[in-house]
Amino acid sequence: MNTFPHIPRERLPALLAAMPKAELHIHIEGSLEPELIFALAERNRVSLAYPSVEALRAAYAFTDLQSFLDIYYAGASVLLTEDDFHDMAWAYLRKAAAENVLHTEIFFDPQTHTARGVDIGIVIRGLKRATVRARAELGVSAELILCFLRHLSEDEALQTLEQALPYREHFIGVGLDSSERGHPPEKFARVFARCRELGLHLVAHAGEEGPPEYIRNALDVLKVERIDHGVRCVEDPALVRRLAQERVPLTVCPLSNIKLRVFGEMHQHNLGELLAAGLVATVNSDDPAYFGGYLNQNYLETFAALPLDASHAYTLARNSFEASFASAEDKARWIERLDQLFDEFR
Ligand code: HPA
Ligand code: ZN
Repeated sequence: MNTFPHIPRERLPALLAAMPKAELHIHIEGSLEPELIFALAERNRVSLAYPSVEALRAAYAFTDLQSFLDIYYAGASVLLTEDDFHDMAWAYLRKAAAENVLHTEIFFDPQTHTARGVDIGIVIRGLKRATVRARAELGVSAELILCFLRHLSEDEALQTLEQALPYREHFIGVGLDSSERGHPPEKFARVFARCRELGLHLVAHAGEEGPPEYIRNALDVLKVERIDHGVRCVEDPALVRRLAQERVPLTVCPLSNIKLRVFGEMHQHNLGELLAAGLVATVNSDDPAYFGGYLNQNYLETFAALPLDASHAYTLARNSFEASFASAEDKARWIERLDQLFDEFR
Protein backbone atom coordinates (compact mmCIF):
# COMPACT_ATOMS: atom_id res chain seq x y z
CA MET A 1 0.00 0.00 0.00
CA ASN A 2 1.25 3.48 -0.86
CA THR A 3 1.05 5.35 2.42
CA PHE A 4 2.05 8.59 0.67
CA PRO A 5 -0.74 9.03 -1.91
CA HIS A 6 -0.13 12.79 -1.93
CA ILE A 7 3.24 12.22 -3.65
CA PRO A 8 2.70 11.44 -7.36
CA ARG A 9 5.06 9.23 -9.36
CA GLU A 10 6.42 12.14 -11.40
CA ARG A 11 7.72 13.71 -8.17
CA LEU A 12 9.73 10.58 -7.26
CA PRO A 13 13.07 11.70 -8.79
CA ALA A 14 13.00 14.96 -6.79
CA LEU A 15 11.93 13.10 -3.66
CA LEU A 16 14.66 10.47 -3.98
CA ALA A 17 17.33 13.14 -4.41
CA ALA A 18 16.05 15.32 -1.56
CA MET A 19 15.38 12.66 1.06
CA PRO A 20 17.86 12.35 3.92
CA LYS A 21 19.59 8.97 3.78
CA ALA A 22 22.53 6.87 4.96
CA GLU A 23 25.02 4.94 2.85
CA LEU A 24 26.22 1.64 4.34
CA HIS A 25 28.06 -0.04 1.45
CA ILE A 26 30.69 2.10 -0.25
CA HIS A 27 34.27 0.97 -0.86
CA ILE A 28 36.30 4.15 -0.64
CA GLU A 29 38.80 2.82 -3.22
CA GLY A 30 35.77 2.41 -5.52
CA SER A 31 35.06 6.14 -5.30
CA LEU A 32 38.39 6.94 -6.97
CA GLU A 33 37.43 8.70 -10.22
CA PRO A 34 39.70 8.28 -13.29
CA GLU A 35 40.61 11.99 -13.15
CA LEU A 36 41.86 11.62 -9.56
CA ILE A 37 43.68 8.37 -10.45
CA PHE A 38 45.63 10.28 -13.13
CA ALA A 39 46.25 13.29 -10.86
CA LEU A 40 47.60 11.06 -8.07
CA ALA A 41 49.67 9.01 -10.54
CA GLU A 42 51.35 12.23 -11.65
CA ARG A 43 51.78 13.56 -8.09
CA ASN A 44 53.38 10.26 -6.97
CA ARG A 45 55.19 9.42 -10.24
CA VAL A 46 53.38 6.09 -10.52
CA SER A 47 53.04 4.72 -14.05
CA LEU A 48 49.65 3.45 -15.21
CA ALA A 49 48.84 0.81 -17.82
CA TYR A 50 46.42 3.25 -19.52
CA PRO A 51 47.55 6.29 -21.52
CA SER A 52 44.58 8.55 -20.65
CA VAL A 53 41.46 9.08 -18.54
CA GLU A 54 39.38 8.11 -21.58
CA ALA A 55 41.34 4.88 -22.15
CA LEU A 56 40.97 3.95 -18.49
CA ARG A 57 37.24 4.66 -18.50
CA ALA A 58 36.85 2.63 -21.70
CA ALA A 59 38.28 -0.37 -19.81
CA TYR A 60 35.33 -0.23 -17.37
CA ALA A 61 33.39 -2.96 -19.18
CA PHE A 62 33.00 -5.75 -16.67
CA THR A 63 31.68 -9.27 -17.12
CA ASP A 64 31.70 -10.39 -13.47
CA LEU A 65 33.11 -9.49 -10.04
CA GLN A 66 36.68 -10.63 -10.80
CA SER A 67 36.95 -8.61 -14.03
CA PHE A 68 36.05 -5.53 -11.97
CA LEU A 69 38.37 -6.34 -9.05
CA ASP A 70 41.40 -6.62 -11.36
CA ILE A 71 40.97 -3.04 -12.59
CA TYR A 72 39.87 -1.73 -9.17
CA TYR A 73 43.10 -2.92 -7.51
CA ALA A 74 45.13 -1.43 -10.39
CA GLY A 75 43.40 1.94 -9.87
CA ALA A 76 44.21 1.90 -6.14
CA SER A 77 47.94 1.56 -6.90
CA VAL A 78 48.31 5.36 -7.14
CA LEU A 79 47.49 5.82 -3.42
CA LEU A 80 50.70 6.31 -1.41
CA THR A 81 50.51 9.21 1.07
CA GLU A 82 48.21 10.22 3.90
CA ASP A 83 47.04 13.13 1.75
CA ASP A 84 46.11 10.73 -1.08
CA PHE A 85 43.78 8.80 1.23
CA HIS A 86 42.38 12.02 2.65
CA ASP A 87 41.78 13.53 -0.80
CA MET A 88 40.01 10.38 -2.07
CA ALA A 89 37.68 10.21 0.93
CA TRP A 90 37.08 13.96 0.96
CA ALA A 91 35.98 13.88 -2.71
CA TYR A 92 33.46 11.13 -1.86
CA LEU A 93 32.20 12.88 1.29
CA ARG A 94 31.53 16.13 -0.59
CA LYS A 95 29.45 14.20 -3.14
CA ALA A 96 27.63 12.38 -0.34
CA ALA A 97 26.77 15.69 1.37
CA ALA A 98 25.41 17.08 -1.92
CA GLU A 99 23.14 14.00 -2.20
CA ASN A 100 21.64 14.48 1.28
CA VAL A 101 23.59 11.61 2.82
CA LEU A 102 23.55 12.35 6.57
CA HIS A 103 25.57 9.31 7.62
CA THR A 104 27.96 6.95 5.85
CA GLU A 105 29.85 3.82 6.92
CA ILE A 106 32.85 3.57 4.62
CA PHE A 107 34.70 0.35 3.73
CA PHE A 108 38.43 0.41 3.15
CA ASP A 109 40.80 -2.38 2.03
CA PRO A 110 44.11 -1.96 3.95
CA GLN A 111 45.68 -5.09 2.43
CA THR A 112 45.48 -3.54 -1.06
CA HIS A 113 47.86 -0.87 0.25
CA THR A 114 50.06 -2.69 2.78
CA ALA A 115 50.88 -5.23 0.03
CA ARG A 116 52.50 -2.31 -1.87
CA GLY A 117 54.51 -1.23 1.16
CA VAL A 118 52.14 1.52 2.36
CA ASP A 119 51.92 1.59 6.15
CA ILE A 120 48.43 0.91 7.50
CA GLY A 121 48.74 4.05 9.67
CA ILE A 122 49.01 6.21 6.53
CA VAL A 123 45.80 4.65 5.20
CA ILE A 124 43.77 4.98 8.39
CA ARG A 125 45.01 8.44 9.40
CA GLY A 126 44.33 9.87 5.94
CA LEU A 127 40.79 8.46 5.80
CA LYS A 128 40.05 9.44 9.39
CA ARG A 129 41.12 13.04 8.77
CA ALA A 130 38.56 13.27 5.96
CA THR A 131 35.75 11.86 8.15
CA VAL A 132 36.52 14.31 10.98
CA ARG A 133 36.55 17.16 8.47
CA ALA A 134 33.22 15.96 6.99
CA ARG A 135 31.49 16.27 10.33
CA ALA A 136 32.89 19.76 10.93
CA GLU A 137 32.56 21.24 7.44
CA LEU A 138 29.71 19.28 5.83
CA GLY A 139 27.63 18.10 8.78
CA VAL A 140 28.02 14.53 7.50
CA SER A 141 28.56 11.74 10.02
CA ALA A 142 31.12 9.25 8.67
CA GLU A 143 32.62 6.07 10.14
CA LEU A 144 35.19 3.55 8.84
CA ILE A 145 34.87 -0.24 8.44
CA LEU A 146 38.07 -2.21 7.77
CA CYS A 147 37.59 -4.99 5.21
CA PHE A 148 39.65 -8.17 4.91
CA LEU A 149 40.34 -9.42 1.39
CA ARG A 150 38.85 -12.90 1.21
CA HIS A 151 41.11 -14.09 -1.64
CA LEU A 152 44.01 -13.83 0.85
CA SER A 153 44.55 -16.18 3.81
CA GLU A 154 43.03 -15.91 7.26
CA ASP A 155 46.57 -15.58 8.70
CA GLU A 156 47.06 -12.48 6.54
CA ALA A 157 43.74 -11.11 7.84
CA LEU A 158 44.91 -11.74 11.44
CA GLN A 159 48.19 -9.93 10.73
CA THR A 160 46.26 -7.01 9.24
CA LEU A 161 44.08 -6.84 12.35
CA GLU A 162 47.19 -6.72 14.56
CA GLN A 163 48.64 -3.90 12.42
CA ALA A 164 45.35 -1.99 12.71
CA LEU A 165 44.95 -2.32 16.49
CA PRO A 166 46.98 0.82 17.34
CA TYR A 167 44.21 2.66 15.41
CA ARG A 168 41.35 0.72 17.01
CA GLU A 169 39.40 3.88 17.94
CA HIS A 170 39.42 5.06 14.31
CA PHE A 171 37.18 2.30 12.89
CA ILE A 172 33.88 0.87 14.11
CA GLY A 173 33.86 -2.54 12.51
CA VAL A 174 35.24 -5.07 10.06
CA GLY A 175 33.94 -6.54 6.81
CA LEU A 176 34.86 -9.15 4.23
CA ASP A 177 35.15 -8.33 0.52
CA SER A 178 36.90 -9.24 -2.78
CA SER A 179 36.44 -12.51 -4.74
CA GLU A 180 33.51 -14.34 -3.17
CA ARG A 181 33.31 -17.69 -4.96
CA GLY A 182 35.64 -20.30 -3.46
CA HIS A 183 36.29 -18.11 -0.40
CA PRO A 184 33.40 -18.92 1.97
CA PRO A 185 32.82 -17.00 5.23
CA GLU A 186 34.00 -19.90 7.42
CA LYS A 187 37.54 -19.39 6.06
CA PHE A 188 37.61 -16.30 8.37
CA ALA A 189 36.01 -17.79 11.51
CA ARG A 190 38.96 -17.11 13.84
CA VAL A 191 39.63 -13.52 12.80
CA PHE A 192 35.94 -12.60 13.06
CA ALA A 193 35.74 -14.23 16.51
CA ARG A 194 38.71 -12.11 17.59
CA CYS A 195 37.09 -8.94 16.19
CA ARG A 196 33.89 -9.78 18.06
CA GLU A 197 35.87 -10.01 21.32
CA LEU A 198 37.31 -6.59 20.54
CA GLY A 199 33.78 -5.15 20.35
CA LEU A 200 33.96 -4.37 16.65
CA HIS A 201 30.82 -4.41 14.50
CA LEU A 202 30.80 -7.26 11.98
CA VAL A 203 29.56 -7.33 8.38
CA ALA A 204 30.42 -9.47 5.34
CA HIS A 205 29.76 -9.55 1.62
CA ALA A 206 27.70 -12.69 0.94
CA GLY A 207 25.23 -13.80 -1.70
CA GLU A 208 26.44 -11.40 -4.40
CA GLU A 209 27.95 -14.11 -6.63
CA GLY A 210 28.13 -16.77 -3.90
CA PRO A 211 25.25 -19.10 -2.92
CA PRO A 212 22.69 -18.63 -0.10
CA GLU A 213 24.81 -20.97 2.03
CA TYR A 214 27.44 -18.20 2.25
CA ILE A 215 24.78 -15.89 3.74
CA ARG A 216 23.84 -18.53 6.33
CA ASN A 217 27.46 -19.11 7.27
CA ALA A 218 28.18 -15.38 7.49
CA LEU A 219 25.38 -15.24 10.09
CA ASP A 220 26.03 -18.51 11.91
CA VAL A 221 29.82 -18.77 11.80
CA LEU A 222 31.01 -15.15 11.54
CA LYS A 223 28.02 -13.74 13.49
CA VAL A 224 27.72 -10.68 11.25
CA GLU A 225 25.12 -8.00 11.95
CA ARG A 226 24.47 -7.08 8.29
CA ILE A 227 24.86 -8.83 4.97
CA ASP A 228 26.47 -6.87 2.13
CA HIS A 229 24.57 -7.55 -1.12
CA GLY A 230 22.73 -10.75 -0.09
CA VAL A 231 20.51 -10.64 -3.20
CA ARG A 232 20.89 -14.39 -3.82
CA CYS A 233 18.99 -15.10 -0.58
CA VAL A 234 15.79 -15.38 -2.68
CA GLU A 235 16.99 -18.78 -3.90
CA ASP A 236 16.34 -20.09 -0.37
CA PRO A 237 12.83 -19.22 0.94
CA ALA A 238 13.62 -20.43 4.49
CA LEU A 239 16.62 -18.08 4.56
CA VAL A 240 14.46 -15.17 3.38
CA ARG A 241 12.01 -15.85 6.22
CA ARG A 242 14.87 -15.94 8.71
CA LEU A 243 16.39 -12.67 7.44
CA ALA A 244 12.98 -11.00 7.73
CA GLN A 245 12.27 -12.40 11.19
CA GLU A 246 15.70 -11.49 12.59
CA ARG A 247 15.64 -8.14 10.75
CA VAL A 248 19.10 -8.70 9.28
CA PRO A 249 19.79 -5.73 6.99
CA LEU A 250 20.92 -6.27 3.39
CA THR A 251 23.05 -3.54 1.81
CA VAL A 252 21.91 -3.85 -1.79
CA CYS A 253 23.84 -2.13 -4.61
CA PRO A 254 21.64 -2.00 -7.73
CA LEU A 255 23.99 -0.37 -10.27
CA SER A 256 26.83 -2.65 -9.15
CA ASN A 257 24.61 -5.69 -9.65
CA ILE A 258 23.86 -4.66 -13.24
CA LYS A 259 27.49 -3.77 -14.12
CA LEU A 260 28.80 -7.05 -12.66
CA ARG A 261 25.95 -9.00 -14.29
CA VAL A 262 24.35 -10.33 -11.13
CA PHE A 263 21.12 -9.28 -12.91
CA GLY A 264 20.71 -8.73 -16.64
CA GLU A 265 18.85 -5.42 -16.59
CA MET A 266 17.51 -3.14 -13.86
CA HIS A 267 13.88 -4.17 -14.44
CA GLN A 268 15.01 -7.72 -13.48
CA HIS A 269 16.50 -6.61 -10.14
CA ASN A 270 14.91 -8.21 -7.08
CA LEU A 271 14.91 -5.16 -4.75
CA GLY A 272 11.10 -4.95 -4.93
CA GLU A 273 10.85 -8.64 -4.10
CA LEU A 274 13.17 -8.22 -1.08
CA LEU A 275 11.06 -5.34 0.26
CA ALA A 276 7.82 -7.26 -0.35
CA ALA A 277 9.27 -10.16 1.69
CA GLY A 278 9.73 -7.75 4.62
CA LEU A 279 13.53 -7.62 4.47
CA VAL A 280 15.45 -4.63 5.81
CA ALA A 281 16.91 -3.80 2.39
CA THR A 282 18.90 -0.63 1.76
CA VAL A 283 20.21 1.03 -1.43
CA ASN A 284 23.95 1.73 -1.77
CA SER A 285 26.55 2.59 -4.42
CA ASP A 286 29.32 -0.02 -3.78
CA ASP A 287 31.98 1.41 -6.14
CA PRO A 288 30.40 4.55 -7.60
CA ALA A 289 33.35 5.66 -9.77
CA TYR A 290 33.25 2.31 -11.57
CA PHE A 291 29.54 1.47 -11.75
CA GLY A 292 28.00 4.60 -13.27
CA GLY A 293 26.80 6.64 -10.35
CA TYR A 294 26.69 7.66 -6.72
CA LEU A 295 23.91 6.94 -4.26
CA ASN A 296 21.14 9.08 -5.76
CA GLN A 297 21.76 7.62 -9.22
CA ASN A 298 21.24 4.17 -7.69
CA TYR A 299 17.87 5.24 -6.26
CA LEU A 300 16.85 7.01 -9.50
CA GLU A 301 17.64 4.15 -11.86
CA THR A 302 16.08 1.56 -9.55
CA PHE A 303 12.82 3.49 -9.20
CA ALA A 304 12.72 4.24 -12.95
CA ALA A 305 12.92 0.52 -13.78
CA LEU A 306 10.86 -1.11 -11.00
CA PRO A 307 7.25 -0.63 -9.84
CA LEU A 308 8.26 1.23 -6.65
CA ASP A 309 6.44 4.24 -5.13
CA ALA A 310 6.96 6.87 -2.43
CA SER A 311 6.28 4.39 0.37
CA HIS A 312 9.14 2.22 -0.90
CA ALA A 313 11.37 5.30 -0.98
CA TYR A 314 10.46 6.04 2.63
CA THR A 315 11.09 2.45 3.71
CA LEU A 316 14.50 2.33 2.00
CA ALA A 317 15.67 5.62 3.53
CA ARG A 318 14.36 4.68 6.96
CA ASN A 319 16.00 1.23 6.68
CA SER A 320 19.31 2.92 5.86
CA PHE A 321 19.24 4.75 9.20
CA GLU A 322 17.92 1.82 11.21
CA ALA A 323 20.49 -0.59 9.72
CA SER A 324 23.37 1.76 10.55
CA PHE A 325 25.67 1.42 13.56
CA ALA A 326 24.82 4.93 14.75
CA SER A 327 23.38 5.70 18.20
CA ALA A 328 19.64 5.44 18.87
CA GLU A 329 19.58 9.24 19.36
CA ASP A 330 21.18 9.94 15.98
CA LYS A 331 18.84 7.48 14.24
CA ALA A 332 15.76 9.11 15.80
CA ARG A 333 16.97 12.58 14.78
CA TRP A 334 17.60 11.52 11.18
CA ILE A 335 14.25 9.69 10.88
CA GLU A 336 12.50 12.83 12.15
CA ARG A 337 14.12 14.78 9.30
CA LEU A 338 12.96 12.09 6.88
CA ASP A 339 9.38 12.29 8.20
CA GLN A 340 9.46 16.06 7.85
CA LEU A 341 10.50 15.87 4.20
CA PHE A 342 7.75 13.39 3.37
CA ASP A 343 5.17 15.61 5.12
CA GLU A 344 6.28 18.65 3.18
CA PHE A 345 6.68 16.96 -0.19
CA ARG A 346 4.07 17.59 -2.86
N1 HPA B 1 32.17 -7.33 -3.98
C1 HPA B 1 33.29 -7.82 -3.45
N2 HPA B 1 34.38 -7.08 -3.25
C2 HPA B 1 34.34 -5.80 -3.59
C3 HPA B 1 33.21 -5.24 -4.15
C4 HPA B 1 32.05 -6.04 -4.34
O1 HPA B 1 31.00 -5.63 -4.82
N3 HPA B 1 33.53 -3.94 -4.39
C5 HPA B 1 34.78 -3.73 -3.96
N4 HPA B 1 35.29 -4.86 -3.47
ZN1 ZN C 1 30.90 -4.19 -2.03
